Amino acid sequence: MTRKLFVTTALPYANAAFHIGHMMEYIQADIWVRYQRMQRDGGQERQVHFVCADDTHGTPIMIAAEKEGITPQEFVAKIAAGRPQYLDGFHIAFDNWYSTDSPENVALSQGIYRQLRDAGLIVTKTVDRFYDPVKGMFLADRNIKGECPTCHAKDQYGDNCEVCGAAYQPTELINPFSVFTGSTPILKPSEQYFFKLSDPRCFTFLKEWLNTPGRLQPEMVNKVSEWLGEAGEKLADWDISRDAPYFGIPIPDAPGKFFYVWLDAPVGYLASLKNYFDKNGLDFDAFLKDPDAEQVHFIGKDIVSFHLLFWPAMLNFSGHPIIDKLKVAVHGHLTVNNEKMSKSRGTGISPLRYLELGMNPEWLRYYLAFKLNAKVEDLDFNGDDFVARVNSDLIGKYVNIASRCAGFIAKKFDGKLASELSDNAKAWIAKALTVDGAERQVSIGAAFEAREYGRALREIMEIADVTNQFVDENKPWLLAKDETKVAELHEVCTVALILFRQLTIMLSPVLPQVAARVAEFLGDAGHTWLDTQGEAAYNSMLGRSIGAYSHLMQRVDAKMIENLFERPGVATPAPNPASDAAPEPAAAAESVDAAPAGALAAPAAADAIEELAPEISIDDFAKIDLRVARIVNCEHVEGAGKLLRLTLDVGEGRHRNVFSGIKSAFKPEDLIGKMTVMVANLAPRKMKFGISEGMVLCASSADEKANPGLYLLDPMPGATPGMRIR
Ligand code: MSP
Ligand code: ZN
Repeated sequence: MTRKLFVTTALPYANAAFHIGHMMEYIQADIWVRYQRMQRDGGQERQVHFVCADDTHGTPIMIAAEKEGITPQEFVAKIAAGRPQYLDGFHIAFDNWYSTDSPENVALSQGIYRQLRDAGLIVTKTVDRFYDPVKGMFLADRNIKGECPTCHAKDQYGDNCEVCGAAYQPTELINPFSVFTGSTPILKPSEQYFFKLSDPRCFTFLKEWLNTPGRLQPEMVNKVSEWLGEAGEKLADWDISRDAPYFGIPIPDAPGKFFYVWLDAPVGYLASLKNYFDKNGLDFDAFLKDPDAEQVHFIGKDIVSFHLLFWPAMLNFSGHPIIDKLKVAVHGHLTVNNEKMSKSRGTGISPLRYLELGMNPEWLRYYLAFKLNAKVEDLDFNGDDFVARVNSDLIGKYVNIASRCAGFIAKKFDGKLASELSDNAKAWIAKALTVDGAERQVSIGAAFEAREYGRALREIMEIADVTNQFVDENKPWLLAKDETKVAELHEVCTVALILFRQLTIMLSPVLPQVAARVAEFLGDAGHTWLDTQGEAAYNSMLGRSIGAYSHLMQRVDAKMIENLFERPGVATPAPNPASDAAPEPAAAAESVDAAPAGALAAPAAADAIEELAPEISIDDFAKIDLRVARIVNCEHVEGAGKLLRLTLDVGEGRHRNVFSGIKSAFKPEDLIGKMTVMVANLAPRKMKFGISEGMVLCASSADEKANPGLYLLDPMPGATPGMRIR
């Protein structure tokens, strides 16, 4: 039987660029997919369809688009346009990237809904919802702000507090107000549609699905069992409707009602698959009905309830029986230096900066794979650990084998490997590739299949250790100096390269680009997992002519890691109240106070302007890259006396985070949507509250007492984000 796999990662919200947590999920899934693609079932290539899409609907995207003065569709298109540089950059091999805002998703979501309704699993109930009497619309949780009922932080959203993390109902906010009009919302009854999760059929089905051995991670089985309760008594109906205006899919036969984004988001998996199948002449309906097809979702621990309760039940009761098909692989979250990443701000390491610094994407793939297992555990990106792991394993152990032996084959043997091996040589190969008489490729393969990547890589590195031990003991560099040892040298280098090829094949799900280069250098058309099995592992190498070896991978330079976070050696810009570099909080007060004092020292008349800075050349000026920026968001920074946090769009397909000491002069809501000017090539600075990626510019008087104002630069209408100022 040929396995038929339909693999997905979670569909990312189309409201921001990717952060490194997203990349972790894609890398985890991509490794699994690449391993599967190397398999042959009865000589047949395994079918693997790996798709994703942008999750486009819902209130946050609506609000974000409104702030930028564009339609949600335009907003989503802009985000989508930025995706390929991340995916290609980290070698993520999706077959298709699509969108939940698509005709396929509308048809599939509405179709599933109709079938659930026909099955008696949709009910309506009248509930009280917050309503903006001025704007005349119902308010989603994120359209309402107010004081947190737990910690009393002001200006918190209606669903949870960003300061203390408490979750609550919008009706619990103290002094709630509508973000659109500032008016106090009133409660108004509204008819809503619910998916009847409380129906006993759902419990019976979920219980069986959940407990099928091998389907879910044990910790997930426990968690979902708790949610189910003894007999389903804990399962509550799920509100799947939202009132217009809402960026979403209309509910059939329910004017003014839209599907809540989480209803149509997972259907987006199917929409992307259908779009891909249609483009490639494959039969989507037949695939969904195929009892052999397996559906595997890679997701993070924060979205488990949607994937382990609602989605399986939705599928099962809408004519997509999935008892034997659906698997969900849940991972923990990635932290950076033990700091949690913020979903909305995407703090931590920027994947694009990583690439821009010339860092090798396969370093990150290897490092994350080494830390990943099949448990729902968080993992941490730690700079020192990253440098040590990559340099020791990939450079010190793996690449080192080829760089020590390949040259001799080219120089002394015309590029040709030995055509026979002595028993001693074969014994070394067996020593490297087997343990207790069992082939290592079997347990390594099983580890990849089970998503135990760390275990797979540790075993692969054991093969590398034996290989290096073999090279160290036989010292090809000494053999090469002795004319009588030519045959020995030939054999030693041949064995080393045979093992290097085996290592490469087993590493190829993790290091696809290096593997492709090695395949070319060794004259392989490509590698399958069968190439690691039995004597096939080396027979095909004997007597083979190979190409010229070129260096495969650089060491990580620890300086690169410093640059990834901050550049310490860079001078602090001149004291400027609007400087992003103002340290917080005590030192900032000093530097701001110091400015007028310095200015006073200059021999200046009371009405004179601040003394000019020393002359510069046009080349000096050209070094400063000033750009038009749109202030996409602006907010207070909890605990910072002088700073505002600005989210800037400089037309790069990502947003910049900039801290600016302008709190005394501006209200955040007055700046949102405005255009301004930023220094776009200033080295990023790590501050107490996060990384600042540039600086906005303000005019200010040297005599702060006479004029304490700060005047943010404002380009004339018509300037668009990303334009350079010259
Ligand atoms: N749009 C929903 C998913 C819909 S699936 C039908 C969503 N989007 S998300 O952009 O917030 O997250 C996408 C995926 O990234 C989720 O699986 C989430 O768990 C994962 N991660 C978000 N932050 C992460 C880390 N810090 N580390 C690892 N994965 C992270 O949720
Ligand atoms: Zn709070």
